[in-house]
Amino acid sequence: MPEVQPFDMVIFGGNGDLAMRKLMPALYHRHQDGALCDEGRIIAASRHAISRDNYVANARDACESHVGAAFSEAVWASFAERLDYICVDVTREADFLPLAERLDEHPTRTRVFYLSTGPSLFTGICHHLGTAGLATENARVVLEKPLGHDLESAEHINREVARVFAEHQIYRIDHYLGKEAVQNLIALRFGNALFEPLWNRSSIRDVQITLAEQVGVEGRGSFYESTGALRDMVQNHLLQLLCIIAMEPPTSINPDAVRDEKLKVLRALHPLTGRDAIKNSVRGQYKAGAIEGASVPGYLEEDGVAPDSTTETFVALKAEIDTWRWAGVPFYLRTGKRMQERVAEVVVNFREVPHSIFSESSMPMPNRLVITLQPDEGVELYLMAKAPGDDMQLRPVALNLDFAQTFTTRKADAHERLLMDCLRGKLTLFMRRDEVDAAWRWIEPILDAWDQQGDRPKTYTAGTWGPAASSALVGRGGYCWHEEA
Ligand code: BG6
Repeated sequence: MPEVQPFDMVIFGGNGDLAMRKLMPALYHRHQDGALCDEGRIIAASRHAISRDNYVANARDACESHVGAAFSEAVWASFAERLDYICVDVTREADFLPLAERLDEHPTRTRVFYLSTGPSLFTGICHHLGTAGLATENARVVLEKPLGHDLESAEHINREVARVFAEHQIYRIDHYLGKEAVQNLIALRFGNALFEPLWNRSSIRDVQITLAEQVGVEGRGSFYESTGALRDMVQNHLLQLLCIIAMEPPTSINPDAVRDEKLKVLRALHPLTGRDAIKNSVRGQYKAGAIEGASVPGYLEEDGVAPDSTTETFVALKAEIDTWRWAGVPFYLRTGKRMQERVAEVVVNFREVPHSIFSESSMPMPNRLVITLQPDEGVELYLMAKAPGDDMQLRPVALNLDFAQTFTTRKADAHERLLMDCLRGKLTLFMRRDEVDAAWRWIEPILDAWDQQGDRPKTYTAGTWGPAASSALVGRGGYCWHEEA
């Protein structure tokens, strides 16, 4: 690992939810681990006129509550020495001058500008950074999702940011790529010779990727109203996972080698337009139900949600990839809020044996690889074995790899990993501009088809696996979702 060089990290939106919930605790952990060099400042910027002491007190509370038992006063005291606060109204050019003065105290340090603000502020902040002379060669800018609302707005952001920063200075976050489990997918595919010969249409029948959440919109009703599950989860997280599962082996782990291969997958996605999009997609919206025994309201009853909203809280899609490797293999993608379980998993169903010597009733299922990313990380490979007894009855038995038992070290949070990669200048786990464009190009026609169709999403009861139409989508191909098997 390259050493972290002296740095100044400016967090715009430094007093906001993401900064307090994720970024500060992540930096605290890395400070505690000794991974940050001594010459490193963290400068929170926000429009609130509060003193540095007030800010430090707020950050301390946030770290204490998120770090939990590992929180130490002594570590906090040394970490707090790194912290600074500056009041910046990012819409006012003049407010960037005091920031420039502060950064010019150490002109050669790596400068990271973390934009933990709404995307509508991205272009303005970058523009002002440029005018204040802060977009120097040693500067990097980190952009949080959502990167736009559609192709046009994403292109606008990317174009404007590119006026100020070169592509190698831009770190677009998809926090799923920072998850240990997602990186493990890369290790599983490209660190083992076992899978690659089977990783194609000849051996694989279908792939299912599920990102199911039990939470609802968590007080973000008005944000979610203009977003919906397709933009919030599929355009980024689900498609990134799909890329990692489906990409060709990159020539190295270098940023562009990996990102070139992911881009090829996005560009090879069979377009879903018009009637095709309707046929191959299901959108749902939760109604009141129960999650683990506790009643929860329906989406339409959430704060900030219009009583006749047609925003989807669930999406299932059948995607296909037009390449020699994957032609004819359906990739079923599914995500939803208020689902029965919180689970993120990839299920790879292999084809049946070409000729079975066993009776149909004694041969229960083809091989299956289940990669669980959340809540517990693990890999299960289902093989058929003979059940004890006189008959030749086969039963699935799982070869089970439980990462929590195998590796007992603390698992870094996604943002922790990504922040460190940014400080080290490693771009592999960040999205390149053309990836974002390609993802929107595939997503937008689906949104258009839904708009034109104009009907309401199918309802599903909170605490279930989504609308019945989702099972029907998979059922039409002769398959069923993993939990229904
Ligand atoms: C975010 C979405 O990107 O990912 C949220 O905006 C969602 O709506 C979250 O809840 C899920 O992330 P995780 O890491 O909890 O699976």
